Amino acid sequence: MKRIDRAFLAPLLAGVFAFATQAYGADSVFTTLPLATVETAPLLVSADMRDGMDLSGEWNWSIDPYRSGIAGFHGEAPNRTEQRWLDIDVRKALAQDNRELFEFDLDHDRKVRLPGSWLAASPEMRHYQGLVWYRRHFDSPAGRKGRYFLRFGASNYATVVFVNGQPVGRHEGGFTPFAFDVTRLLRDGDNQITIGVDSAATAATVPPPVTDWENYGGVTRDVKLVHASDTYVDSAWVRLTAEGKIAVDAHLDGPAAANQPVQLKVAGLPFDLKGRTDAKGNWRATATAPRALIRWTPESPKLYDVTVAAGEDTWRDRIGFRTIERRGADILLNGKPVFLRGISMHEEEISANPARVITPENARALLGEIRNGLHGNFVRLSHYPHSEVMTRMADEMGLLVWSEVPVYWMVAWSNPSTLATARNMLAENILRDRNRASVVIWSVANETPVSDARNTFLRTLIGDVRRLDPSRLVSAALLVERDKAAAVPTMTMADPLADDLDIVSINTYNGWYTPDRLADLPKSVWNLPADKPLIFSEFGADAKAGFHSPDGMQKFSEEYQAEFYRKTLEMADRVPTLRGISPWILKDFRSPRRQNPDFQMGFNRKGLISETGHRKQAFSVLAEYFARKAGEPKK
Ligand code: GCU
Repeated sequence: MKRIDRAFLAPLLAGVFAFATQAYGADSVFTTLPLATVETAPLLVSADMRDGMDLSGEWNWSIDPYRSGIAGFHGEAPNRTEQRWLDIDVRKALAQDNRELFEFDLDHDRKVRLPGSWLAASPEMRHYQGLVWYRRHFDSPAGRKGRYFLRFGASNYATVVFVNGQPVGRHEGGFTPFAFDVTRLLRDGDNQITIGVDSAATAATVPPPVTDWENYGGVTRDVKLVHASDTYVDSAWVRLTAEGKIAVDAHLDGPAAANQPVQLKVAGLPFDLKGRTDAKGNWRATATAPRALIRWTPESPKLYDVTVAAGEDTWRDRIGFRTIERRGADILLNGKPVFLRGISMHEEEISANPARVITPENARALLGEIRNGLHGNFVRLSHYPHSEVMTRMADEMGLLVWSEVPVYWMVAWSNPSTLATARNMLAENILRDRNRASVVIWSVANETPVSDARNTFLRTLIGDVRRLDPSRLVSAALLVERDKAAAVPTMTMADPLADDLDIVSINTYNGWYTPDRLADLPKSVWNLPADKPLIFSEFGADAKAGFHSPDGMQKFSEEYQAEFYRKTLEMADRVPTLRGISPWILKDFRSPRRQNPDFQMGFNRKGLISETGHRKQAFSVLAEYFARKAGEPKK
């Protein structure tokens, strides 16, 4: 059944996705299994609030560096001896019949707790990029009725899924959710799930192989067997419009989706909106918001329990109601100008040995440093969609969010399957988080070189955002041109994409990647559009926690980083259209590009806190700046 607002994506998602075309033969399971996309797969919006069985916990795993579970030695389909997903007990089969041969035995292999990247699973896996197989068993719920969906919060990068030895489907992209209807594959008693996860990046993937962060391979977010009735609310988007109305777009899936009575309620408010789905199971309606509605703001992040009831099913979510818009160079939150006091952040918990495990506690610890430590009201979740645990926590703690897809540096702009991958990833991200009051900016790219192919690629993504969610602002982290002859640092925004964006966002590293004297930074000249808000989406300097240079002049010292912040903030304050900053970065993070043995040891050290949470001097420089900003009367 065609779904409402994303039919325009279908034709372009029909193409074969990037990963498959590069890494696997045409007949491998990574190319032949049905591909989960926003057009083909269940969305299960707000799945984390649905009934079901949490399948996180202990799984067996096994590496497959030569992908022998995918292709034989002449590239043909693997024969039985290599088919990791087979629904048999290998140890018993080998003991019973010596004509049998199996080069694996997932049921008796090593164990690891999921979610969590395999990079931290065992020392030899620290730098492993490639294919890993996982398996677990579970008892199916007794007296099953209704539908059962196997849902992954995220699995990096390409994933194939089998249940009870049967092929289920595949997904591409390491940072967004996907699900499969496995109702007909479940059996009474013991069931087994086998998945293959390949983290290898290729020139065609999104992101491409070279980035400045660790490629955490594996199942990095929750796995859940979600239960719903035969006909259920697959997606619902509930928000406050600029006209002060509560609007809903919902889509039912199932035999009774068409012409079904539906009801939207907001607990704690006199709001009860009734309607009926159309022939396609879609419902769209608006009604004036009750006067008693308390709008969501960072200072008072009010959330409401919202339900959409349809037949036997009740969809639930916790939603804040607010508006966000741009007027000239101002960003207006609930109609009032707002300054975004932010910081950038990678999805990596505070730990000496992070595994990209974002529990509510880990999310609260990270966002707490911003909210309570830095007096911030904004976080740039870079450079890819972070866990919904993080965006829900931002809703709860009152932090505005910049959400981004990993179209980063050198992407294969002219490769149609790379574009299809990026479009689907963007749509998965928006459809997952459209109900998050905290999310106010969708970013389509970071530091990408201007070219016709790139402009076309990114304009397609911007168009998708505007169609999928016209209620939020669109941006991208851009670079500027530097006038090398000028006496003072002189930068000009010459990127044509700036015209297509709501917010001009700039990454600048003058004084770190340039030989500029920090004292000269405040004299900088910025030639920028006067009618658009500016966000300095990145600036920063590395500092090894505990390394000090009394004269403050040595790079990698805390003193140099602190002075870099003082001078850059002084510079920023002189730019008339400045409406926000998200310096690079809250916490030191793993990056294979950073190998200075004295200061980096595999970490990018631009954090204001170390990987274990130690605050550096620059932390208080930014905290003081934000405390002052928060106290300042709005322009
Ligand atoms: C870039 C990039 C980041 C990177 C940072 C740095 O601007 O966007 O991903 O980590 O600079 O060089 O530290």
